Amino acid sequence: MPGTKRVFVKTFGCQMNVYDSERMSESLVPYGFTETDRIEEADVIILNTCHIREKAAEKVYSELGRLRHIKDVRRQNGKNTVITVAGCVAQAEGAEILARAPVVDLVIGPQSYHRLPDLVFRAQSESRRLVDTNFPEQDKFTKLPDRKVKSAPPTGAARAASAFLTVQEGCDKFCTFCVVPYTRGVEYSRPVADLVDEARELISRGVREITLLGQNVNAYHGVGPDGRDWSLARLIRALGEVEGLQRLRYTTSHPKDMSDDLIAAHRDEPKLMPYLHLPFQAGADRILAAMNRKHTAADYRRLIDKIRSARPDIALSTDVIVGFPGETEGEFLETLRLVEDIGFAQAFSFKYSPRPGTPAAKMEEQLPDAIKSERLQRLQHLLASQTSRFNDSCIGRIIPVLFERLGRHAGQIVGRSPYLQPVHATGARDLLGHIIPVEISGAGPNSLLGVIRAA
Ligand code: SAH
Ligand code: SF4
Ligand code: F3S
Repeated sequence: MPGTKRVFVKTFGCQMNVYDSERMSESLVPYGFTETDRIEEADVIILNTCHIREKAAEKVYSELGRLRHIKDVRRQNGKNTVITVAGCVAQAEGAEILARAPVVDLVIGPQSYHRLPDLVFRAQSESRRLVDTNFPEQDKFTKLPDRKVKSAPPTGAARAASAFLTVQEGCDKFCTFCVVPYTRGVEYSRPVADLVDEARELISRGVREITLLGQNVNAYHGVGPDGRDWSLARLIRALGEVEGLQRLRYTTSHPKDMSDDLIAAHRDEPKLMPYLHLPFQAGADRILAAMNRKHTAADYRRLIDKIRSARPDIALSTDVIVGFPGETEGEFLETLRLVEDIGFAQAFSFKYSPRPGTPAAKMEEQLPDAIKSERLQRLQHLLASQTSRFNDSCIGRIIPVLFERLGRHAGQIVGRSPYLQPVHATGARDLLGHIIPVEISGAGPNSLLGVIRAA
């Protein structure tokens, strides 16, 4: 009987986890599950976890502490609850999670999600604690049920105007600070035909904007309908022709794979939005080499010049790490200088966090937290001023906004500019899912305010 059991999914980490969470809950639908946002009524609770920094990984354990109580109360009412840890902590720690958190019934790594229904069933019927972190398996997407077979779409993103679509998984770059190559495995690109099909399915659900995802999305090289490997630029052009799709984005890119044809797509493909997230991590070449980033600061500057000449209004975003082992004050100043010279519309910055099993964690000269915090503060001050300046520069312009959701205040709707800024305006609910010109009347640190010009 469909719809009698409930699944609750909580997602941590990157957009790829958001996408995986949707696919996981969809995969349970044929087995009678519907998604719930009330954790107490869930028969299956999934924590889709992130291992990228220590803080991210620790969140899982504090969440599990909370779940113990919920599971106990449900048991007293005669109800069984399968508590599942998925995602990158599952992959990295495997059976250790069962030892550390007795409340957990099932540990499932990102390469095993197509086995989720079976594992949930076994955990329920056999009352066993199970671990499945088999690795690597590259074709989970083809083994997950077709997205069309669902009887009821889960709430949330599936009805939204904007959706994620994972086109590439894994990473072969092995930056010395990063766990992703260990938790997500080798690079794998999904075939073009599958992606076009899935894009069509998303559009039939009302999606107007698709963000193509990959840990190294611009290294995409999936097999095309002609049997050859297609680049991300070629995939973007093919998706650009899909009827009903209005906007395309992609994330996250590595500077090394920012090819000329992809840069040209920013000039030529009208549906590709003028926004690029391109992490540079550090401004000093010695640190970049120790990070195994495979590019210098000068390479990055040259790349940005090229991208800006192809698409002058492009909004740039980046990731930066401060306090990598051995980073001197002078080297940190080089990071600030690079930020100053380039000017970012948006940025994410982090204190270096040593991760088990990565080469950088074993390096000498680990820096004290106080130095990392102080550098992060200076960097974030600069980045915030750049974001504000960029937002302010939009005041007075008329910008097309894709409206996606209702705002917190009555009569308010919220959407995104081409540059990914949230834009708040007063407007009718039936504008959701449409791209409407908005005159920007105000700017805050992280969003814009505007007046709808025409419907
Ligand atoms: N694939 C992407 C990003 C992956 S993780 C890329 O290549 O850029 C997202 C960001 O987390 C990274 O860009 C990096 O800035 C940050 N990060 C990764 N590992 C980290 C660590 N050990 N400590 C601090 N920040 C880290
Ligand atoms: Fe991690 Fe580097 Fe791969 Fe990005 S490119 S996922 S930072 S190893
Ligand atoms: Fe975190 Fe895994 Fe994504 S470590 S950032 S959830 S790939």
